[in-house]
Amino acid sequence: MSDESVHPADEVMCQCSGTKRGYIQSLYEQGMDVQAISRWTGALSGCGGCEWDIADFLKALDQQKVQADSQTDRDNSAG
Ligand code: FES
Repeated sequence: MSDESVHPADEVMCQCSGTKRGYIQSLYEQGMDVQAISRWTGALSGCGGCEWDIADFLKALDQQKVQADSQTDRDNSAG
């Protein structure tokens, strides 16, 4: 089972702003941090109920990025 089926990109993560998971990921990949994503989308600026979900999601993306970077480092040093 892929992550996509567990956490679809079109899942709304912030009900107040209607911000979807895939859009948050896209902004993260463009280099935005949580404050920038909040300002850009309006997420986290309403009831705050999405705060932990979005924080956990960004933390998971950070971990994926660290793993990917270390894999790239290993690949580069191996050659
Ligand atoms: S659900 Fe995101 S601010 Fe309310």
